[in-house]
Amino acid sequence: MVHDMIAPDNDFARLPAPVEVMRLGTCYYPEHWPEDWWAQDAFRMAAMGLSRVRIGEFAWSRIEPEPGRFDWGWLDRAIATLAEAGLGVILGTPTATPPKWLVDAMPDMVAVDAQGKPRKFGSRRHYCFSHLGYRAEAARITAAMAERYGAHPGVVAWQTDNEYGCHDTTVSYSDAALAGFRLWLAARYGSIAALNAAWGTVFWSMEYRSFDAVELPHLTVTVPHPAHVLAFRRYSSDQVAEFNRIQVEILRNASPGRDICHNFMGFYTEFDHHRVGADLDVAAWDSYPLGFLEQYWFSDADKADYARQGHPDIAAFHHDLYRGCSGGRWSVMEQQPGPVNWARYNPAPLPGMVRLWTLEALAHGAELVSYFRWRQVPFAQEQMHAGLLRPDSVEAPAANEVRDAASDIALLGITGAAPKSVALIFSYAGDWVTEIEPHGAGQRALKQAFDWYSALRRMGLDVDIVSPDAALDGYSVVVLPCVPIIDEALVDRLAQCTAQVVVGPRGGSKTDELAIPDGLPPGPLQSQMSLKVTRCESLRPGMGADGTSDGGPWRVQGWIEEISARFPGEMPTDAGAATVWRAGALRYVSVQGDAAYLDAMLGAAARDAGLERLAMAEGVRVRRAGGRTFVFNYAAEARVCPEGVTGEFLIGGPVLDPAGVSVLAG
Ligand code: GAL
Repeated sequence: MVHDMIAPDNDFARLPAPVEVMRLGTCYYPEHWPEDWWAQDAFRMAAMGLSRVRIGEFAWSRIEPEPGRFDWGWLDRAIATLAEAGLGVILGTPTATPPKWLVDAMPDMVAVDAQGKPRKFGSRRHYCFSHLGYRAEAARITAAMAERYGAHPGVVAWQTDNEYGCHDTTVSYSDAALAGFRLWLAARYGSIAALNAAWGTVFWSMEYRSFDAVELPHLTVTVPHPAHVLAFRRYSSDQVAEFNRIQVEILRNASPGRDICHNFMGFYTEFDHHRVGADLDVAAWDSYPLGFLEQYWFSDADKADYARQGHPDIAAFHHDLYRGCSGGRWSVMEQQPGPVNWARYNPAPLPGMVRLWTLEALAHGAELVSYFRWRQVPFAQEQMHAGLLRPDSVEAPAANEVRDAASDIALLGITGAAPKSVALIFSYAGDWVTEIEPHGAGQRALKQAFDWYSALRRMGLDVDIVSPDAALDGYSVVVLPCVPIIDEALVDRLAQCTAQVVVGPRGGSKTDELAIPDGLPPGPLQSQMSLKVTRCESLRPGMGADGTSDGGPWRVQGWIEEISARFPGEMPTDAGAATVWRAGALRYVSVQGDAAYLDAMLGAAARDAGLERLAMAEGVRVRRAGGRTFVFNYAAEARVCPEGVTGEFLIGGPVLDPAGVSVLAG
């Protein structure tokens, strides 16, 4: 019966025409299943409302079982079968999983960990980005795939590799990395004298007499020189960008008209995603909200309250971050559909969350949400990871939610963009600086960015997370939660924009070479505001100071800077110490504070910018897009739509059940 509905071989007339509504898809591994299941799987995918399928990204050993012998037959048939069911194929290059024969032939292609140990074959991502021989092999397999499928009507997009950096693989201490790093240093500094001066290697007699004398910054007796580490982090990030660019260039030439994307990860900053994203058409990312809640810095209370939903800002933070990484086009390439296998604890999502996560991606402007994975695999490393189907091919609970999401999307149609409101500047290099010199346990630019983002979202504001190089016109508020390296160009853009600008602690605190700027922090910002940070301290839990604003009490904690200024500060603690310093529309914030502090401090900037703020009940979030307001309930109890959200209900109503979504027109 079912098979009658599948178009005959090579009839691609049924490929869906491009539409502007968000698509749904899934990640599929035809090589894991008997070939006579494929057509039925493809049919069931299409019937569930899916129109995209990502395949191929780990299939090198089946594509090229022996050096130079390609077995295309199975992949030809898989692509044809999927395309015949109306699914557009997103084809992954298989470079995250080089086969055993390649590692045996080129044993030094593996990455080396910080302890100097080579990483072994037997899982995935066992390669070093710096290894030129492996780069050539990655280019060779990419070119072979691009030549075979570049013009294939069933292939609608490409994914390069898979999750660059996953399993700690961006930074490698290999001989290849050492050779590459020395060349990179020579190109950056020109002379060894310039490097010595820039880094300040006179400290502890670390001066070098040639680039060939510089080692990789690991296995030192105590911490290595911070400028040395920052240079190596920059070098390592550049290798990812170069590795990716090689594939992008091959694919662009051989596969015109197809989007090229890569699937980034959550809370992962080891390479500069703005740089890699600039070479892509679409920045995709892999959204596992429950796994991320469990693995990152969230409090035990949040981990308990949101165990089955994820913290209400985890998915949205990344949506808004990656939208800023490749010119606005972005997707979710892997969406958690049930329990994952890799976090400390792996609960199942609350019923409704898979639909909520899908519609939230829509509200933030995704082009695609693709679920990982189609069928739970009964063998190998990920057998405990849910799919849309159970291993016995019966539907898992997420399948019905996917159907629901598909009908919601059909009902809503084109979503449209969000109004420009708040820009949050995030710098990858800034995060490396705080990792290299945290100065206090848990101090990290990424966490500061997340905490400020959460505060803005608790006010119902829409946020674009942008790079330090982004244009800032049109925003009402621009925030820099923790950007230690601020260049003159950014200072100029901040000075010229009409927004209320809020710079958080550590802003402008370091030069490009990770030194304290002449004239002290906030460095180049002093051209706009005459103050100096004369001291900074980090505070252990329990230390801090209380204060009160109109909205109630708050607490300063974690980090305090001492400021020398000729003008009075604002938002004093109860003891009278100012925490905010203002010159016109520019604010410098000299402390970290709890959520109540951030609400009060950022609330004042939003108020001065004339932005309408909403009071969000715990767990509720809103997002405006294309003249609609989306309301999401991450709480485990029912919630009502926030006061001030008005319009005709297109989906849901004024009361939202747990995992509920309401969408209003107007
Ligand atoms: C991602 C990865 C997938 C799969 C998934 C499991 O990190 O890209 O291949 O491993 O996690 O959650």
